[in-house]
Amino acid sequence: MIGGNGQLGSDLVEHWRASGDAVVAFTHDDIQIDDMDSVRSVLTEAKPDLILNTAAFHNVPKCEEDPGRAFAVNGAGALNVARVSADLGATNVYFSTDYVFDGAIRRPYVETDAPNPLNVYASTKLLGEYYTLNYAPESFVLRVSGIYGKVPCRAKGGNFITTMLRAAKERPEVKVVTDEVLTPTPTWAIANAARQIVETGKSGRYHVTCEGECSWYEFARVIFSTLKIRTPLRPASVHDFPSPVRRPFYSVLENSMMKNQQIPDMPHWEEALVNFLQSMYGTSA
Ligand SMILES: NC(=O)c1ccc[n+]([C@@H]2O[C@H](COP(=O)([O-])OP(=O)(O)OC[C@H]3O[C@@H](n4cnc5c(N)ncnc54)[C@H](OP(=O)(O)O)[C@@H]3O)[C@@H](O)[C@H]2O)c1
Repeated sequence: MIGGNGQLGSDLVEHWRASGDAVVAFTHDDIQIDDMDSVRSVLTEAKPDLILNTAAFHNVPKCEEDPGRAFAVNGAGALNVARVSADLGATNVYFSTDYVFDGAIRRPYVETDAPNPLNVYASTKLLGEYYTLNYAPESFVLRVSGIYGKVPCRAKGGNFITTMLRAAKERPEVKVVTDEVLTPTPTWAIANAARQIVETGKSGRYHVTCEGECSWYEFARVIFSTLKIRTPLRPASVHDFPSPVRRPFYSVLENSMMKNQQIPDMPHWEEALVNFLQSMYGTSA
């Protein structure tokens, strides 16, 4: 497991361990995926059957400022892991993003839709996908979206839920955009699905998100109402928050490969979110 102390990585570790597998959770201190010598020596010693690679440079604005690092980690790093996994005969799983799409098609994207990344982060993740599948053809690429879990995202210092909780405490009102649409998905559900996907033995690209879709505003509305937050929540537009980074207005994914493989449906985003909030925070924050 690469990125073993990350938001998604820690739930993958927990899930695989709960199923009785021996898991080594490598952190960034243990392995640097952008350094081939590090990847080869660490993985050769570990002799894994399966490599789960969640490592990424994925602070989207910082990727825009430092494309060299984004390429080195998300692109070349994925290539290093793919090459070594192929040499070791290990199954490789690379976690990618809904942002590989431009959002021009206003219907959920299937795995065979053409990607068209709009920013540096998404471009380098797509490159990581190509390297993974071309240099280790038995690999799996799992595209996820809007993830949240018990452990905060290390690259972003939290997740959308913790950002909303902080904003509600610090500001007189909170404005959230209605014109970017996605599907929030908890890490436990991704871990559960990832295992079932790997067990099919059918390599390739998979979309792994909850059912349904919402704007960031609707995502926030469920957080505010479930946790009885009294700070006013106001709808806004992306045009209210000018940014040099282009992002898709619509990045909903259809899990068609999972459905083809008869893997049970993911939970609906709202039900999964309410359950997560109640288990993490009770009914008020
Ligand atoms: N968060 C989201 O909403 C979202 C949405 C779509 C896709 N994704 C994808 O999902 C994956 C997991 O995201 P996450 O939220 O779990 O991220 P995270 O909490 O930031 O975890 C990433 C892990 O990778 C490690 N790492 C970073 N650079 C590395 C390198 N060069 N070599 C080795 N390890 C390195 C980090 O360690 P340090 O922190 O110590 O550097 C951390 O342990 C990523 O591939 C991301 O692109 C995330």
